[in-house]
Amino acid sequence: MATIMKKIALFSFLTFSGVLTLALSAVAQPSSYDQPWRPQYHFTPPQNFMNDPNGTVFYKGEYHLFYQHNPEGNVWGHMSWGHAVSTDLVHWQNLPVAIPEDPNYMIYSGSAVVDKNNSSGLCKNPDPHDRSCLVAIYTAAFKDRQKQHIAFSNDRGRTWTNYSGNPVADVDAPDFRDPNVFWYEPQHKWVMVTVLADERTLLLFDSPDLKHWTKRSTFGPSGDAAGQWECPDLIELPVEGTNEKRWVLIINRNPGAPAGGTGVRYLIGKFDGTKFTSEIPDSPVLWADWGKDFYATNTWNDMPATDSRRVWIGWFSNWQYANVEPTVLWRGGLSVPRTLMLRRFHDGLRLVQKPVHEMENLRHEKFRAANGSVADINRRIAEAGTMGEVYELEAELETGQATEIGFRLRKGKDVETLVGINTTRSEVFVDKTRSGETSFSKDFPGRHAATIENTGRIKLHLFVDRSSVEVFVNDGERVLSERIYPPAGSDQIELYANGAGGRVISLAIWELDSVWK
Ligand code: FRU
Repeated sequence: MATIMKKIALFSFLTFSGVLTLALSAVAQPSSYDQPWRPQYHFTPPQNFMNDPNGTVFYKGEYHLFYQHNPEGNVWGHMSWGHAVSTDLVHWQNLPVAIPEDPNYMIYSGSAVVDKNNSSGLCKNPDPHDRSCLVAIYTAAFKDRQKQHIAFSNDRGRTWTNYSGNPVADVDAPDFRDPNVFWYEPQHKWVMVTVLADERTLLLFDSPDLKHWTKRSTFGPSGDAAGQWECPDLIELPVEGTNEKRWVLIINRNPGAPAGGTGVRYLIGKFDGTKFTSEIPDSPVLWADWGKDFYATNTWNDMPATDSRRVWIGWFSNWQYANVEPTVLWRGGLSVPRTLMLRRFHDGLRLVQKPVHEMENLRHEKFRAANGSVADINRRIAEAGTMGEVYELEAELETGQATEIGFRLRKGKDVETLVGINTTRSEVFVDKTRSGETSFSKDFPGRHAATIENTGRIKLHLFVDRSSVEVFVNDGERVLSERIYPPAGSDQIELYANGAGGRVISLAIWELDSVWK
């Protein structure tokens, strides 16, 4: 709540200052993407501030990525939808601001859909065989009210027009936001999930045409009573290795996440077209990511017909310090896109995430070894001169008698980021206490952990990208996403083990191409 109050104060101060014209004329500048800490294969805006990914949708060969963006500066404000497109989810082309703020309201988070059959009547496609267009559904954040608006594009997302009949949904509330819309084929209708953020309540609507919405059900509060609910999503996911499917309700929570501040929780259950019913206990709350920096997720709508994946992406930050992270020119970025699935564990179904396979196209192998002691493999890493700031690493480790085993990454003089397994605590963790620049917020540094059942033998899949580390454990069973700000040149990679017997079953390291060159 404090965060939103801060945002609203900034809004009333900034809105009526002629920014509309500026925002409209703001065109993404080419950028070298080579400033200190600038990620090389993650999405970051060419300049200025970003937070949530918005409107992720695939249409006519392009993955669209919109995002909460301040075209005017490097802190939150003037919220507009920034825009980029990609043909592979990995290489992005920056486009001009898609939906700029209005003098009376900012453009908050939301979603986008392909209106295949022109249900809205807003598509003007002259092709008689394809009447489709793109429709975006976003929150118009007025000074003290939030309402859902739509905008449409008849030129593959390049230009957008606000619908003249806006708002399309309004419940006379100050915290009614983040509409996530999808087509529900069994009942041939659109479904929208939104939240009343402070009440921790989900509101579910449906519509025949994206313009007229009827409220069908509410869900919540559920779980602990902390924090706001933001950016909901309702998706159907396969259970790995079976023909089963379940509906998963995603709720972004601000604050109250395990690592502190913002985080992503989920529930698993049923959806009948009008109502979500959870099939899991209210407690413990299930979390998608155990690191400090993964929030405000958005899943791609309308994936290509031949692609059954459900892919999401999250904001790579935390509201505790999003406005003060130590980058200049730009601030904020996104995680690697991840494929979602459910996997059955002895205590029930859980969400698992894997980086999209397209990431593999960036690889250049740097190092490979198998079956050696920690000391042995460390010697080989050093002999090969393997180090880096932009790479991917896959390892399978056997802990033996070691109480802790793992990696020291981005190691340099007096700095290192630890990624390890602690057998005493049955945890996988990232410790960024000594990762480099942390002084900008007391909430930033720390050791963040997730429990795992079997610490005997573990697979770690790491992505390091100048100012970030993402850790996928045991094929996505646990994920920890962390920003780090080490001094340039802190590029050593080292294994370590506390106690005897830790072994490396296998280790591979790839340098990854920059996607901005
Ligand atoms: C989540 C959020 C959303 C809101 C947007 C405003 O990070 O607070 O609830 O729509 O950011 O920028």
